[in-house]
Amino acid sequence: MSVQIDNNLVRVFDTTLRDGEQSPGATLSSAEKLEIARQLARLGVDIIEAGFPAASPDDLAAVQRIAREVGTADGPVICGLARAVEKDIVTCWEGVKDAAKPRIHTFLGMSDIHLKHISNISRKEALEVVRKGVTLASSLSPDVEFSPMDAGRADLSFLVEACALAIECGATTLNIPDTVGYVTPSEWGEFLSNLIAETPGSGPGSGITWSVHCHNDLGLATANTLAGVLAGARQVEVTINGIGERAGNTSLEEVVMAIHTRKQFYNLYTNINTREIMKTSRLVSNYTGMHVQPNKAIVGANAFAHEAGIHQDGMLKHSSTFEIMTPETVGLNQSRLVLGKHSGRHALKARLQELGYKIEGDALNQVFARFKDLADAKKTVTDADLEALIADEFHGPEEIYSLVDIQVTCGTMGMPTATVKMKNADGEEIIHAAVGAGPVDASYKAVDAIVKAPNTLIEYSVHSVTEGIDALGEVTVRISPDGEDKRSFGGYGAHRDIVVASVKAYLAAVNRMVAVMGLGDRKPEGEVSTVQVKS
Ligand code: KIV
Ligand code: ZN
Repeated sequence: MSVQIDNNLVRVFDTTLRDGEQSPGATLSSAEKLEIARQLARLGVDIIEAGFPAASPDDLAAVQRIAREVGTADGPVICGLARAVEKDIVTCWEGVKDAAKPRIHTFLGMSDIHLKHISNISRKEALEVVRKGVTLASSLSPDVEFSPMDAGRADLSFLVEACALAIECGATTLNIPDTVGYVTPSEWGEFLSNLIAETPGSGPGSGITWSVHCHNDLGLATANTLAGVLAGARQVEVTINGIGERAGNTSLEEVVMAIHTRKQFYNLYTNINTREIMKTSRLVSNYTGMHVQPNKAIVGANAFAHEAGIHQDGMLKHSSTFEIMTPETVGLNQSRLVLGKHSGRHALKARLQELGYKIEGDALNQVFARFKDLADAKKTVTDADLEALIADEFHGPEEIYSLVDIQVTCGTMGMPTATVKMKNADGEEIIHAAVGAGPVDASYKAVDAIVKAPNTLIEYSVHSVTEGIDALGEVTVRISPDGEDKRSFGGYGAHRDIVVASVKAYLAAVNRMVAVMGLGDRKPEGEVSTVQVKS
């Protein structure tokens, strides 16, 4: 398929749901993937890599759902990943074919290291695999992307041959990955310039788009991606918050804001609505349970905070003294005082609408009740508080088990004890009491005794949404199912009481694990001292 290429447009290919989801702890349910895909469409990404359909029937179903519900005519291209083998390619097509603009992304490791240790084939045999794979993909899909995996450590002339062959067989996007995050910006820029210049059939007017895909093992993913753009790439493969294998992928927000903020330098643009960046970042962080480090560029909690006296003084005089972009550009609302305890439902609804949340009916009643509860305890409720409440109320997994009530006793004397009342999927209420090392541990033990899905807590963190002793607490956790499985699941919870926030976060992770793995009736390992009261 020949496409018209606007040479100043850098297409954004988001792989949060594929490469990002492959990162430890980022496993998402199908419903969560769909909601993230919807937000990616609102953000304005050009292509969503929705998953790896041949990986499992669940992955296939999730890609199909995204293709049907998000891949509309005015929506993004919906892409699936496939190894360059028949089974993967055919399954991938099954996944994406219902999208208005489907794409098959097929790949093969092309460095000598990958050829020898992964495929155990010669360079000549590899070219044959590329020929067959891309030809098959092009016979099914009008839009085909080919990636020579581990290109950062591959031989340039061999890559030229492979890319030319992929074009001949119907690929229209050539994505060049630095799979192991090995290259440096200047060498990568030169390598890509040479590859683009030497590959026949890929010049101006050919309809071919060159793309870059970088990993962050040396912390160079954004720099390498931008070097690729300067060398001629007009597609960037990125993830929200830079999540991905090992040290992660290139982060979408960094590349997009570099192109946006340094317009005069790059003379390029993207289709991203930058004001949706923060919301997308929070959604992905809440669903994956992967907390964004405070000093992370663009989306970190401190990215727009000015602490040093000299900086604050400069900011008061003029924001341009220490700010190269405004917080509003990335969707961070600086309004501090939002609502108080006398604010009514209408004011709340209007403020939520201004923040981009259209909430009505029962959902609004639910948020209003939470808001009132918070406003009673806290003088002012800020935008950040409201966003945390929304994330806690609506951005969770399917609620198989839900928290009804919790009570803890703790202190320097005695044994920390938690009594937890929960509802299971049948609406049955179950109460358990457990003793633990502290109130959170005791509560988690009580939850475990009810859910019976043994797991290990591998990460737990608490943050306050705003300053002050009355601030809302946000908790993120990551758990790993006991046994053979290498996956882990994240959860998020927000509440004034950090023990309650902790239980909500834990329950979100447990529900996610139960939904994805179908657990829930296994006996917990070890003894927990519990009392069960059925009501
Ligand atoms: O890092 C990589 O090489 C990949 C490919 C499948 C594009 O993710
Ligand atoms: Zn990758």
